[in-house]
Parts: sequence; structure tokens; C-alpha cells
Amino acid sequence: MSKGVILLGLPGAGKGTQAKKLAVQFSIPQISTGDMLRSAIKNGTELGLKAKSVMDAGELVPDDIVVGIVKERLAEPDCEKGFILDGFPRTIPQAVALDAVAREQIHFILMLDVDRGEITERLCGRRTCVSCGAMYHLKFVPSKAEGKCDKCGSSLIQRDDDKEETIQKRLDSYEESTAPLLEYYGNTGKVRKVMASGDVDEIYGRIVEILR
Ligand code: AP5
Ligand code: MG
Ligand code: ZN
Repeated sequence: MSKGVILLGLPGAGKGTQAKKLAVQFSIPQISTGDMLRSAIKNGTELGLKAKSVMDAGELVPDDIVVGIVKERLAEPDCEKGFILDGFPRTIPQAVALDAVAREQIHFILMLDVDRGEITERLCGRRTCVSCGAMYHLKFVPSKAEGKCDKCGSSLIQRDDDKEETIQKRLDSYEESTAPLLEYYGNTGKVRKVMASGDVDEIYGRIVEILR
């Protein structure tokens, strides 16, 4: 059976952290629009040039751009067995566009519910590996050697939008554009709330229980 999962939740709720674990265990791809956009920026593509200033401001990239990249990605053969959407959809028009191509494949919409008070500390302390994308946190998920990735030894960097003033903007974008998705999906019977404060592995256990 194919497993299509959408992860919803505030910036810093742990979508990326949990998506990476699910992708390994279930051998299905993590589709993170944030990661795809950051890689476009890194590679200096036309898409990257368009997205950079918007992302640095903590605002949302236009729907037609993200819908385009997700549709293309979902059409790839590795998505046939399932996929984990991390950070998409984020607006009602994006959800409508997704429904048009993959409504049947979506089995669960997981709402990662985290205490707002934890968000700033989680995001300010986040570090990401420049080459393999592994994620760390200075306090909660420290790497063994400071500033170096446990998996590949490359440097860990801080995301450009993880500054306190940008974090606030991202939270505002969430409230305004993304929170309404809960109502949009309300009558599908697919939405599950997951308590997403506390230990990473415990949260993961709750998610796996739902998917099984
Ligand atoms: P995106 O990259 O999706 O960022 P986000 O939604 O703000 O979410 P984050 O990646 O910050 O948080 P997360 O939930 O993945 O948490 P994580 O696991 O890293 O988007 C960035 C930008 O791209 C947007 O602002 C927008 O401009 C653009 N964009 C992307 N998608 C778009 C779309 N669909 N439409 C339009 N624009 C789009 O965890 C955070 C930290 O906490 C880490 O350090 C982690 O180690 C730590 N942590 C995780 N879990 C725990 C735990 N249980 N306890 C303690 N620490 C924890
Ligand atoms: Mg993320
Ligand atoms: Zn690495």
C-alpha cells in the first residue's frame, strides 16, 4: 500500500526531523519544499534567485512556483510507494493543487503540535550539515564534535532565516496562510494531532503508531 503523508506544524515543530526518520524506516522520499528551495539558492538557479529574498524575509514563495516543483517531484518513480510532504502544502491554493493530482494517495495529515514557547529556542539553536543535510541542535541534538556533522564530518551551518526577527515573520505567515489548512482538511478524516513537545524518539513513536 502506498503511504502518502503530509506533515503540518509551526516552523520548528520538527517536520524535517521526523520526516527524515520516516523516510529511512519506510523507504519513501521526504519532499521538503524548504530544502528544495534552499538547494536552488545554493546552486544559483533562476528559481533560487527568485526565492532567496522572499525566504530571507520569512514570507512565502508564490504558490505557482512551489506547486510546480512539487508536481514535478511527485511524478518521479520513487514516489509511487509513498512520500512524506514536509512544508507543503502551506496555503489553501497549494492544497487544492495537491488534491488535483494526489488526493487518493494522501493517507494521513499529521499535525505536529508543539508549544509555541519552544519554537524560538529550537530554531535559534538549529544547525544543518552543509553537505548531507543532517540536522542538529546546539542543546537538544548536539553533534559529537562541535560544528562537525556526525555522519559525514562536514561543517554545520545556521539557516539564514533562523534569526529572531525572521522567525516571528515565519510564525505570522503560518498563522495567516497555513493554519487555515486544518479546517480545509477537517472533513477528510485523515487529520491526526501529534503531541510534538518532548523527546524526538518518543514523538516519532507516536507517529509510527498512527501510520501502522
Ligand atoms: P521550511 O524549510 O519548510 O521551514 P519551516 O516551515 O519554517 O520549518 P522548519 O524547517 O524551520 O522547522 P521544522 O518543523 O522542519 O523543524 P526541524 O525538524 O528543523 O521553509 C522555509 C521557507 O521556505 C519558508 O519560510 C518559505 O519562505 C519557503 N517555503 C517552503 N515551503 C513553502 C511552500 N510550500 N510555500 C511557500 N513557501 C515555502 O526542527 C527544528 C530544530 O529543533 C532542529 O534544530 C531540531 O534538531 C530541533 N528539534 C526537533 N525536534 C525536537 C524535539 N522534539 N526536541 C528538541 N529539539 C527538537
Ligand atoms: Mg524543516
Ligand atoms: Zn553531514
